[in-house]
Amino acid sequence: MTYLLAQSISKCFERGGQQVLAIDDLSLAVEEGEFVSIVGPSGCGKSTFLHMVGGFEPITQGAISVAGRFVSAPGPDRGMLFQDYALFPWRTVLGNVGWSLELAGVSKQERLERAEYYLDMVGLSAFRNAYPSELSGGMQQRIALARVLAFEPTMLLMDEPFGALDAQTREIMQEELTTIWQSHKRTVLFVTHDIEEAVYLSDRVIVFSARPGRLKADIAIDLPRPRMPEIRKSAEFQALKNRIWDLLREEVLSSKVMS
Ligand SMILES: Nc1ncnc2c1ncn2[C@@H]1O[C@H](COP(=O)(O)OP(=O)(O)OP(=O)(O)O)[C@@H](O)[C@H]1O
Ligand SMILES: [Mg+2]
Repeated sequence: MTYLLAQSISKCFERGGQQVLAIDDLSLAVEEGEFVSIVGPSGCGKSTFLHMVGGFEPITQGAISVAGRFVSAPGPDRGMLFQDYALFPWRTVLGNVGWSLELAGVSKQERLERAEYYLDMVGLSAFRNAYPSELSGGMQQRIALARVLAFEPTMLLMDEPFGALDAQTREIMQEELTTIWQSHKRTVLFVTHDIEEAVYLSDRVIVFSARPGRLKADIAIDLPRPRMPEIRKSAEFQALKNRIWDLLREEVLSSKVMS
């Protein structure tokens, strides 16, 4: 079943009295439970697209629907996770994970149960009473992930969530995310600059063109699941990575020529 449908969407910003076309005539369909990554040159509209799906940014032209309903505002069905995890320093880990549930008026008992459950899922139960400043960047991002998951959205919108992490932590986070996704099968839209990350995590990788963002390629990642870390070394994996990298390079080069 199609879960997310973007139909011929365009996005125009106004900057200093001038119109900036960020996205032009983009259509995309994502199936329920699918993990789709978006890659593309800097400034091609990836974050803008995610914000529009999230209902945070109005659509200039076209329409986006999620689970059959047109998107016009944010909703609890779509959970967003960004690069800067923005935890509250004055709240404990458990308090941070339960925060959005508190806002939603979930009872204290259920809040605690759900927060504990998702904290356990990201492997940080032992740190429930710690404060964010006592945790590493990778741990903080796991707390942020638990916070989004605790809300139990049906769709996750992730914008370079591991972008600020070191290479090793990043790989571990990818492995954790793929395991969590495997057991929960939420629909995921994942923006990244890291092609290896996109291939490892995804069912499909969408390549955006240089600004204005258009759909340049839609590549199926037919690697077996569950994905084990060793898969990164396989010839199929490397071939997919190279193919996407070539497509991306064309766009980066063309945007340099234009600017
Ligand atoms: N609020 C805004 N006002 C004006 N222009 C904007 C605004 N937000 C984004 N833009 C412009 O729209 C284009 C797309 O921006 P966006 O942040 O979506 O790109 P991106 O693909 O996420 O880039 P990056 O990979 O660097 O994160 C850029 O040219 C940007 O300058
Ligand atoms: Mg961005």
